[in-house]
Amino acid sequence: MGSPKAWPAARSRRAAGIRWGRCCYRLIYTMSLVAAVYAVTAHFRAIPLHRSGELPNQVSSLQANPMQMNQTIPVAHLSRAEQEKLLWIEKPNSLCFGLGNITILSVAIDLPKAYLVQLRKNRLSYAALHGYRYCEVRTPLDFSRPFPWTKVKAMMLLLSFAETVVAMEADAIVRNKTIRVESILSLEQYNVSGKDVIYTSDYQQSHDADPDPKSSINTGVYIMRSSPWTKAFLESQYKLHTSSIFQTSNLEHDAVKVYRMKNKEDFNAHVAIIPFRFMNSPCTWDLDKYEEGDFIAHYAEEHSLDKYERLALQLATMNL
Ligand SMILES: *[C@@H]1O[C@H](CO)[C@@H](O)[C@H](O)[C@H]1NC(C)=O
Ligand SMILES: *[C@@H]1O[C@H](CO)[C@@H](O)[C@H](O)[C@H]1NC(C)=O
Ligand SMILES: *[C@@H]1O[C@H](CO)[C@@H](O)[C@H](O)[C@H]1NC(C)=O
Ligand SMILES: *[C@@H]1O[C@H](CO)[C@@H](O)[C@H](O)[C@H]1NC(C)=O
Repeated sequence: MGSPKAWPAARSRRAAGIRWGRCCYRLIYTMSLVAAVYAVTAHFRAIPLHRSGELPNQVSSLQANPMQMNQTIPVAHLSRAEQEKLLWIEKPNSLCFGLGNITILSVAIDLPKAYLVQLRKNRLSYAALHGYRYCEVRTPLDFSRPFPWTKVKAMMLLLSFAETVVAMEADAIVRNKTIRVESILSLEQYNVSGKDVIYTSDYQQSHDADPDPKSSINTGVYIMRSSPWTKAFLESQYKLHTSSIFQTSNLEHDAVKVYRMKNKEDFNAHVAIIPFRFMNSPCTWDLDKYEEGDFIAHYAEEHSLDKYERLALQLATMNL
């Protein structure tokens, strides 16, 4: 043990040394953390700008650098609605790119990095080509619920400032980029105009069949327009979680089904159902109804890391 009073000067020198060491360590740790976060966000935000060759004239970006953006891409004055967008965008669990009047929403939670890279490549190149906005949600927006509810919640938030939102599950991939969302919004033969929500038929139907009012719905890809009806519809879906007797893995799908059963006429007046071939062709190892030229392939197997690892390899060989 030794005598505690024997070496007071050495003891205090040692204590000061330890304090100084800890302080340095904390400083270095904080600085490298900040630098890492900055590097990652800076890299991610810079992606669309590096694709300037593909950007059409009307695209403007929140991250626009005026020097690079001169002439080719006019940066519009930010309206109040756009300032609200900025607030949403600045939340750490979401990132949006572009300012188009059509927004693509994907929830990307728990995905392997290799898949995330392919997903972003797909979304950003498609959005940039047509002047759309892409919003990606990376962490749950409601920690008290299973994460499929994050999609519903994100949709509610986005529709508070965006006009038209296309929800695309992380396993739905744009395969034909020339197809514009506007072409779906004007599909007259399915009574799409004036509807608040557009869903697609499900995998049981054949590729070329037209849906009927009883067709089942697949919620992998759908379009919502901002309206009081859509808002109430989403709120009702969200509430159903607590009252629902369904506790399956496809919570959102069940909520839509229950709403449809309970409010048939109201549902049919506000929702259009179009054939899946227009934006949600099922494409799984045992059920491949994707045909060459279709807009979106939905690789709809159960969510698993293994599935996304495999899919990442497959997508890497395609021109996304
Ligand atoms: C941007 O464009 C304007 C007009 O076309 C030009 O006068 C100006 O020098 C350009 N600025 C930069 C940074 O290139
Ligand atoms: C979005 O804006 C473009 C250009 O202003 C317009 O042509 C298009 O119809 C708009 N789309 C929707 C869904 O409002
Ligand atoms: C579209 O609406 C018209 C008139 O409301 C109706 O007669 C027709 O059956 C509808 N078509 C489809 C595909 O729902
Ligand atoms: C993409 O869709 C368009 C319009 O339906 C079609 O004309 C074109 O052939 C498709 N592209 C490919 C590569 O299949």
